Amino acid sequence: MLFTLFIQCFVVATIQAFVSHTTPVAFSTTKTFSIHDRVPTLNNIQNIGPSISSLQAANTETESTSTSISLSNLADKRILVVGGSGRVGGSVVCQLTKQGALVTVGGTNEDSFLSSQGRWKRLFPSIEQNLDKITFSKVDRENASSLESILETNNFDLVIHTAGPFQGKVKTPNGIIEACVKSATPYIDVCDDYCTARAAKSKYASIAVENDTPCIVSTGCWPGVSSLMCKQLTKNALEKNPSLTPRDLTVDFSFFTAGSGGAGATLLVATFLILAEKSLLIQDGRRKEVDAMKDYDVVDFGKIVGKKDVAHLNLLEAASAHDVLGIGNVKTLFGTAPGFWNQLLGLMAQLPSSLLSNEPLMEKLAIFSLPIVRIVDYFAGATNAMRVDVTSAKDPSIQEMALYAHENLEPCVGECVMAFSCALLSGNVKGGIWFPEEAIETKEDIAAVLGLAGIGAHTLEVGGGMKKSDVWG
Ligand SMILES: *[C@@H]1O[C@H](CO)[C@@H](O)[C@H](O)[C@H]1NC(C)=O
Repeated sequence: MLFTLFIQCFVVATIQAFVSHTTPVAFSTTKTFSIHDRVPTLNNIQNIGPSISSLQAANTETESTSTSISLSNLADKRILVVGGSGRVGGSVVCQLTKQGALVTVGGTNEDSFLSSQGRWKRLFPSIEQNLDKITFSKVDRENASSLESILETNNFDLVIHTAGPFQGKVKTPNGIIEACVKSATPYIDVCDDYCTARAAKSKYASIAVENDTPCIVSTGCWPGVSSLMCKQLTKNALEKNPSLTPRDLTVDFSFFTAGSGGAGATLLVATFLILAEKSLLIQDGRRKEVDAMKDYDVVDFGKIVGKKDVAHLNLLEAASAHDVLGIGNVKTLFGTAPGFWNQLLGLMAQLPSSLLSNEPLMEKLAIFSLPIVRIVDYFAGATNAMRVDVTSAKDPSIQEMALYAHENLEPCVGECVMAFSCALLSGNVKGGIWFPEEAIETKEDIAAVLGLAGIGAHTLEVGGGMKKSDVWG
């Protein structure tokens, strides 16, 4: 039934795209959403870790002028990448291996590890001479004991969990982080679901502090690099006008991915699951929800990518910028191309959320739609762009902007995770479970991580009178 619906949506959207290049179709369907268990509210979030005031405190503290975050931190490090056979994980594996790390892929299926190697060779030709150094270990992401013995015998310097989708996994055990904090192994994940990340934080933060184990959750490209762009710009705004507080600031996150960005089935499932959610928006310090992919704005992503249509989508940065940095006004916007792809997402968002949040069903839909997605991708490319704007209603002179654009989302994700890996291995992240904004503290460290994440980017820009090196290292 859903397949037919999908096809209908696709056809309608395509016809729409050709007949008129007007605004997206607005359906008048009324529906009830039952997503309140997944959208965080102030009441069900415990405040763990640095508080809202940490951003202001960081402003006044004297920051060290040197940073130990560099690519050389990766040389000869033993790193386990759980989910390394997938698109995101595979890109991480290749970037780390390229920098001299000794990588083990953790997964449930050795065959998919072996078959993903062909893809690595196509995307990252230089990987071929190091392919035999990459090993495989059987790991079940929900079962900590499946990892414990592997951690004991291998003595990993870092574990990176990329085995998504992470949406709605609040009650699903995260065996990877559990085994890591218990064995004091540094940990990174690419969880893009705020409640899932919060659940991991409240469950394991105290053990991580006790065992002095640095862990960064919800990191990578966006969230991750986007979160640090926001932190750097807001630090700068507050320095410019010390009478402002984070609550006086407005942060707009805008993201653009051409086509699916070469997404694998997991990323498509994640997108479908996010569509089921209302988009969180912070206004005057209050949480609000708006419909996903409905009302469009135009955002300029620089000379190469150009101006693109973007609309609200429920992305983690809204909640983390508010909770971690105390920002008073935040929105998260997303757009894709070609235009009918936006319209298709808008139409899908109108489906009952009971369908969209049904993960097994969305997996089938993703596998079914992959061939269509690939055809569109062939023409659309896989550009990934992110832009953060910081303004303030109280001071019109505050107009901080940072822009990042990369030709291809897939290597981009690996480069961003690699940058955070360097930070974790530098010893500059303290024990505990942190969002990226909490983990990387000083301006120098933030610029160092952003600089490494920008290694393959074709556009790195700043606005608002900052020096480019203030943001991009
Ligand atoms: C978890 O992993 C351990 C060790 O591999 C295994 O003995 C156990 O049966 C697993 N438990 C579940 C629920 O799969």
